[in-house]
Amino acid sequence: MISGAPASGKGTQCELIKKKYDLVHIAAGDLLRTEIASGSDNGKRAKEHMDIGQLVPDEIVVMMVKERLMQPDSQDKGWLLDGYPRSLSQATKLQGYGFHPDLFILLEVPEEILVERVVGRRLDPVTGKIYHLKYSPPETEEIAARLTQRFDDTEEKVKLRLHTHHQNVASVLAMFEDTIIKVDGSVSKEAVFAQIDSALTKLLEQRAEKIGSA
Ligand code: AP5
Repeated sequence: MISGAPASGKGTQCELIKKKYDLVHIAAGDLLRTEIASGSDNGKRAKEHMDIGQLVPDEIVVMMVKERLMQPDSQDKGWLLDGYPRSLSQATKLQGYGFHPDLFILLEVPEEILVERVVGRRLDPVTGKIYHLKYSPPETEEIAARLTQRFDDTEEKVKLRLHTHHQNVASVLAMFEDTIIKVDGSVSKEAVFAQIDSALTKLLEQRAEKIGSA
């Protein structure tokens, strides 16, 4: 699981983790944006909450994530859950369904950096890749011309999202105390990944040792 404030770099790190470890990336925010794009009633309700930076109600989001976690690819390869759970009730339900993380990665980034990351973020609708106008600019003019911005990526909305994050984060962290690693997310994306990579490598080594000694 990977957690952190809005724009702390969860999606960016998931791209790198997925590439190296071949896990199935499940992002609650992406599932919700797909639902909005489908034009469904759940999507319409979800957008009302996302517009004001609030958590989408459990009756929409909980089953959506559970169903994705139960798909054969997630079960076979292992999953990388991004932005979920975000409340005590989501964490409790997830545990009740029997989903436990081997590692809970917490990205720590000072608040003043987060706003700059949000307003500069752009997405490539073709590849899904995350860019930043200053820190991770598009490679070509062609990509630059097609980049889009998320509807909730404004300074005003990120402040609301941050408020929601602060209201809920402590109760979620308390549920995963024994598996948390805190990562400095304020450095370059490569340096952030190096910290995560080292924790994942250690985890796999410990697991291999356990299997070897059994
Ligand atoms: P969601 O889509 O999950 O948004 P978020 O948590 O606010 O996080 P972001 O996607 O904004 O940021 P990120 O941490 O992935 O950062 P990124 O890598 O893109 O959720 C949106 C909404 O959906 C919520 O507000 C809520 O309403 C709803 N929702 C979602 N989950 C829910 C749940 N569980 N329950 C109920 N409702 C839910 O990076 C950001 C920018 O910074 C990019 O431009 C990137 O290039 C740049 N960057 C990244 N890393 C670095 C670095 N190290 N140095 C410099 N720049 C960097």
